[in-house]
Amino acid sequence: MSTSRPAFPGPTELSSGAEKLIRGRHATRAFRPEAVPAETLRAVFALAGAAPSNSNTQPWRVEVASGAARARLADALRAAHAAGRTSVDIPYSEDMYEPHHRERRAAFGAGLYGALGIGRDDHAGRAAYDAESLGFYGAPHAAFLFVTGDGGARLAADVGAYLQTLLLAMTAYGVDSCPQGLLSFYADTVRTELGVTEGKLLVGVSFGYADETAPVNRVIAGRAGLATTTGFHA
Ligand SMILES: Cc1cc2nc3c(=O)[nH]c(=O)nc-3n(C[C@H](O)[C@H](O)[C@H](O)COP(=O)(O)O)c2cc1C
Repeated sequence: MSTSRPAFPGPTELSSGAEKLIRGRHATRAFRPEAVPAETLRAVFALAGAAPSNSNTQPWRVEVASGAARARLADALRAAHAAGRTSVDIPYSEDMYEPHHRERRAAFGAGLYGALGIGRDDHAGRAAYDAESLGFYGAPHAAFLFVTGDGGARLAADVGAYLQTLLLAMTAYGVDSCPQGLLSFYADTVRTELGVTEGKLLVGVSFGYADETAPVNRVIAGRAGLATTTGFHA
């Protein structure tokens, strides 16, 4: 019996699992308080480390806050927000987005805030919800992904690959998550609280176990069709 791969394998024994894994991950915005067991944490972050990177440079550093460290950080983030003390390592501008991006963002926002009962023009309600999200949506853990090296856009691509690998590793181990770019607007606060001395903060990830009763966790964000995003050239 030959053990070599067929020239054109088509779907493999991994395909249906990958469909389930990748499509089964959703952003979770309400968590139960129970912590993820330490051995699961180690398995998830060890698996995430298998992410690809340019020339295998692995230009990332990940800091995970749990327990008292997580509680102190949530307090510090809320205090920084209340004092208007934002600090961003990797610049953000609304100008990054083109009109079709803005349309997708508006559609997503309508679904999210609709599920929360916050009206379209309730700017104060939306701002209050965003501020509240600095408490990690109630998640018992938060991971912070730093780009090391010069922290430039090219290295952020590697950390983006790490991010998705981490999210899928969590899904595979039954752990729910929400990537939160908002957390990166408080880079100095995160650095100070966690004693971080290297890297630029790209994104935070709140994680734990979903509160299945929360309507916000039933929000499903659609996707642009294949033809909109992907060209095949021959
Ligand atoms: C880099 C990045 C930053 C994000 N920032 C936030 C955030 O600050 N707050 C939030 O609630 N969700 C955030 N999300 C989650 C997205 O809103 C979510 O992934 C998207 O709407 C698609 O929904 P899905 O993940 O459920 O498929 C972020 C996702 C990514 C990848």
